[in-house]
Amino acid sequence: MLRIGMLTSGGDCQALNAAMRGVVKAIHNKRDDVEIYGFQDGYKGFIYSDFKILESKDFSGILTDGGTILGTSRQPFKLMRVLDENGLDKVEEMKRTYYRLHLDCVVILGGNGTHKTANLLREEGLNVVTLPKTIDNDLWGTDMTFGFQSAVDIATDTIDKIHTTATSHGRVFIVEVMGHKVGWVTLHAGIAGGADVILLPEIPYDIDSIVKAINRRTKHGKKFTILAVAEGAISKEDAALSKKERKAKKEKNTYPSVAYEIADRIGSRTDKEIRITVPGHTQRGGSPCAYDRVLATRLGAEAAAMILDQDYGKMVAVKNQEITRMKLEDVAGKLKYVDPDSSIIKEAKLMGISFGDD
Ligand code: F6P
Repeated sequence: MLRIGMLTSGGDCQALNAAMRGVVKAIHNKRDDVEIYGFQDGYKGFIYSDFKILESKDFSGILTDGGTILGTSRQPFKLMRVLDENGLDKVEEMKRTYYRLHLDCVVILGGNGTHKTANLLREEGLNVVTLPKTIDNDLWGTDMTFGFQSAVDIATDTIDKIHTTATSHGRVFIVEVMGHKVGWVTLHAGIAGGADVILLPEIPYDIDSIVKAINRRTKHGKKFTILAVAEGAISKEDAALSKKERKAKKEKNTYPSVAYEIADRIGSRTDKEIRITVPGHTQRGGSPCAYDRVLATRLGAEAAAMILDQDYGKMVAVKNQEITRMKLEDVAGKLKYVDPDSSIIKEAKLMGISFGDD
């Protein structure tokens, strides 16, 4: 009997179900003697032994479904070694669940924080196989995470829709895009949606440079300007502060989010009407796009192959369009940032897109 634990952890995204279906379908294709233990709501279910035994039919018809059939939750890595309110050591509890159920391995689908915990479990001797999920695409060791492309499509659709109203009114529109500390979704949606200004955490912006870009467009007869702004975008002044100074400034900041701060600062330098749109969690919602369905299915199939090979302690990844296996200790705890010197940035600049840095 092959006993596999499975959990989805961290913020949800599109194609989590597609990836789990990929794992289970590929395993059942080779083995009949399989038991799947689906832990509820991320690591929480693993810690407190809250699981359902799932059959192959439970994974049928979920390829196109958003969210996760297992539920998810955020369990901050820094709290993993802290005892819970009942004095339980969470890592020890997960080990207890694992050994009590006689699991052969646990399949973990998650982003950065999730991978840090997965690596910790590997160090503690558990057999772990992980899959890279997040709309942010910030996981080190893989060219692409599933969820990213679907989020790009949704953010692009928002920018497309903003275009018509921005044009009609001749307004400046700021579309704030998710992505945590990195700018992958903003960069891709910004280019796909034809944004005029793209602001990323990796390229600190100068407010005067943004105003210059708006004025340049006005001079060329373009009455509207669209800014795609990453939620983690940062000004040059703030980037120059120490971590401590930045934290203190953030605590005093009363803007609901970065888009409002930028709107305020631009507003005092232009007579243009400014509006803000924040698509927020819609970017993580709904059915995965075709690209993510294919990617998640391929990653799921390879995760199954890793289990059958008993090749544990690794994350399935994409490198140059091929699916590959990466050691967890090499990927956990590292963020993949947009490189300001990469060719995609150069090409966008050739198109006249401003990154607020000139
Ligand atoms: O990591 C995915 C993500 O959507 C980020 O882009 C965003 O900063 C964060 O999660 C939002 O988290 P929550 O769903 O907990 O509000």
